[in-house]
Amino acid sequence: MKTKQNDCNMNNTITTVDISLPKQKSVYKGKVRDVINIDDDLLVMIVTDRISCFDVVLLNGIPYKGQVLNLLAAKFLEDTIDIIPNWMIAVPDPNVMIGYKCVPFKVEMIVRGYLSGHAWREYKTGKRALCGVKLPDNLNENDKLPAPIITPTTKADVGHDEDISRENILKQGLVSEEDYRLLESYSLALFERGARLAAEKGLILVDTKYEFGKYRDNDIYLIDEIHTPDSSRYFYADGYPERQNKGEPQKQLSKEFARQWLIENGFQGKDGQQIPEMGESFISSVSERYIELFENLTGEPFIRTEVSDISQRIENNINQFFITKQQTTI
Ligand SMILES: Nc1ncnc2c1ncn2[C@@H]1O[C@H](COP(=O)(O)OP(=O)(O)O)[C@@H](O)[C@H]1O
Ligand SMILES: [Mg+2]
Repeated sequence: MKTKQNDCNMNNTITTVDISLPKQKSVYKGKVRDVINIDDDLLVMIVTDRISCFDVVLLNGIPYKGQVLNLLAAKFLEDTIDIIPNWMIAVPDPNVMIGYKCVPFKVEMIVRGYLSGHAWREYKTGKRALCGVKLPDNLNENDKLPAPIITPTTKADVGHDEDISRENILKQGLVSEEDYRLLESYSLALFERGARLAAEKGLILVDTKYEFGKYRDNDIYLIDEIHTPDSSRYFYADGYPERQNKGEPQKQLSKEFARQWLIENGFQGKDGQQIPEMGESFISSVSERYIELFENLTGEPFIRTEVSDISQRIENNINQFFITKQQTTI
């Protein structure tokens, strides 16, 4: 394994990793994660400290964000294994997950328990149906929905993901009806579990996104990250009804905080808008929010892993995983 060029900026964050592994076939650089395809069978996913808002990657990394996301995803994949099998095999490093490479379904399953974010923005314009799902009248922002709803989006190769109805998913043949029924029931069962786990820790799981894939053309697996602050919205449960009654904003965690700051600084991800530079103190406050959410959700203190040479640490740990694997499979 050879490191060509790695970039850790002055904050000890990891924003770019460039490693090559034996049997490596290709690398996909996502907005947040670098995904290495090993022999079309495994994926090595390096969760960096990059942050994306409105589908745009910001200029600075957020210290410990990668670790928070990866360790939370690992915890919740473990906590839901009785509902559906998932892609995770190992977490050889706090920033790395290794698992089965699946063929992703071309839709993302978004489950909403509350009327927030994109759903609220649509509702506010007068729409009373989202992705073909009817919504009652007289709801306010962040109100609880009568029951959780699924509002899928297409999984675009380039550009923004778009809302799509169940009907169109089936009509366009993106997913077969038989498989789609399973995706729906898995998504609702996962959301129920996620909401319960959050509630046990004094948090509300507002909405979240799931991705599924097929492993070896056969079983449906849960893939990607789940219930992380990048794929979900969380509120503090304490004081939620009082804030709703007074029409006050809810106490949000992590990413929403960064989004809000960008909007205040004139950025909504539209063409031609310049990405504002986050100052040191703002970066560390975002980092603190991620860590706070980790500690709230797990009920455990967040252990700050040594970050003086993150790239080397990651490389060594991945290497060790494959050496051990080789020894045990011979
Ligand atoms: N087990 C898996 N098999 C195949 N693809 C996966 C798996 N888990 C996650 N992915 C894909 O890896 C990518 C993760 O990188 P991310 O930074 O989230 O990228 P993106 O910008 O595409 O959202 C996503 O495109 C996700 O669909
Ligand atoms: Mg993603």
